[in-house]
Amino acid sequence: MKQLLLTWFARHARALPWRETTDPYPILVSEIMLQQTQVDRVLPRYLAWLERWPTVDTLAAASPADVIVAWQGLGYNRRAINLHRAARVVAETGWPDDLTALPGVGPYTAAAVGNFAFGRDVLPVDVNIRRVQERTGESFDGSCAQALFDLGATVCLARIPRCALCPLAGECPSRGQRFEPARKQSTFEGSFRQRRAQALRAVAAGLAPGDDEAVASLAKDGLVVVGDDGVSLPR
Ligand code: ADE
Repeated sequence: MKQLLLTWFARHARALPWRETTDPYPILVSEIMLQQTQVDRVLPRYLAWLERWPTVDTLAAASPADVIVAWQGLGYNRRAINLHRAARVVAETGWPDDLTALPGVGPYTAAAVGNFAFGRDVLPVDVNIRRVQERTGESFDGSCAQALFDLGATVCLARIPRCALCPLAGECPSRGQRFEPARKQSTFEGSFRQRRAQALRAVAAGLAPGDDEAVASLAKDGLVVVGDDGVSLPR
């Protein structure tokens, strides 16, 4: 199956800017952004981020407040603080062998950076890759990672896979099957996550957030600082 997949990928790969580099810093930026945000929404933000902070040292030298503001709209703002903290660690001590030692880097992101930047034969298994593995019954090695992202995003779709377009269909035991709608991401509207986002936007705009619970939670993550004269972004 691997060869069929890689031959398909040679023709159908999406042109994505983080695929043009093996520099671990832009790869880390892309993978942190892609953790919970779709490729289309990440693309312009990734390019803008690297314009502003082209190296790990420039990001490490930035103020947390600027990093938080630059992340606005990508969601899950804790990722911004973790990325910034990770940049400071790398600027001080270099890239660790065990990438999960970096703030915000779990096994998935460690595998992605390990593979795309450091050439390790590890597979970063996200929901798309897991789906292709489960349907085909193949495990795949690290060289298949980018091809599997694209197959999962454009062909082996969650509910109604496009088996007619799939290079693996001839050998796929799940060929032609349809699947129940996956559980939806819990609604943002009315959630605590939304209250946190609103409070953070208010603080970034210099307004009083007026939601103590949300502020306390943001402060715990290092996204805001509660001082004598109100709530502010960390400097
Ligand atoms: N999803 C997670 N990482 C990705 C990558 N490097 N390319 C495309 N989609 C991804």
